Amino acid sequence: MTESETRALLAELAASLFARGFSVGSAGNISVRLAEGGYLITPTNSCLGRLDPARIARLDAEFRHVGGDKPSKEVFMHRAFYSVRPDAGAVVHLHSTMATAVACLADADAVNPIPPLTPYFVMRVGRTLPLVRYFRPGDPAMEPAIAAAARDARAVLLANHGPVVSGKTLTDAVHAAEELEEAARLALLLRGASPRLLTGAQVDDLLITFG
Ligand code: 13P
Repeated sequence: MTESETRALLAELAASLFARGFSVGSAGNISVRLAEGGYLITPTNSCLGRLDPARIARLDAEFRHVGGDKPSKEVFMHRAFYSVRPDAGAVVHLHSTMATAVACLADADAVNPIPPLTPYFVMRVGRTLPLVRYFRPGDPAMEPAIAAAARDARAVLLANHGPVVSGKTLTDAVHAAEELEEAARLALLLRGASPRLLTGAQVDDLLITFG
């Protein structure tokens, strides 16, 4: 995919997330690794519903701003994933309501705040979803904490803030962010009930079969 095709796809997927309420206002940011080196990332304070593909920020391989509008203040969050996950081709950060609600629960499980309820959550998001402690948005101190958590996880949940999800491609990362939000909705719907969770063997089978 050329850079201009990637810019167009990023704007299209972001608009789709916004239209369906996965992001509101200027919340959320999305980045993608370019085949020719470097990254694209959504501009700071931009609305995911109205991105101009030509103005999406361009970063070089060292995450320096080299083109487009001023990049998201969460570059550190995205860099944390790319630095420890060579398989990550894109990163999506949202404040989607259900996942953020789980991130606000005082008694959320720090290793798996959303249990393995359905196959697609496991297939897209993986085995674990570490909960990373609260940092102020844009605080560079979050980078080492996210990097440590993302070493063994495709996605993390930032306490009182929201999810950060990686994927092999832009489309994969967006799909995983959507599955995470739906899994959070189910987890909240079933809070206080006794749901049947997928077993360890079923989770292993999904990850062996679908990667
Ligand atoms: P930016 O507008 O700088 O990308 O920040 C939005 C956001 O979601 C902060 O967490």
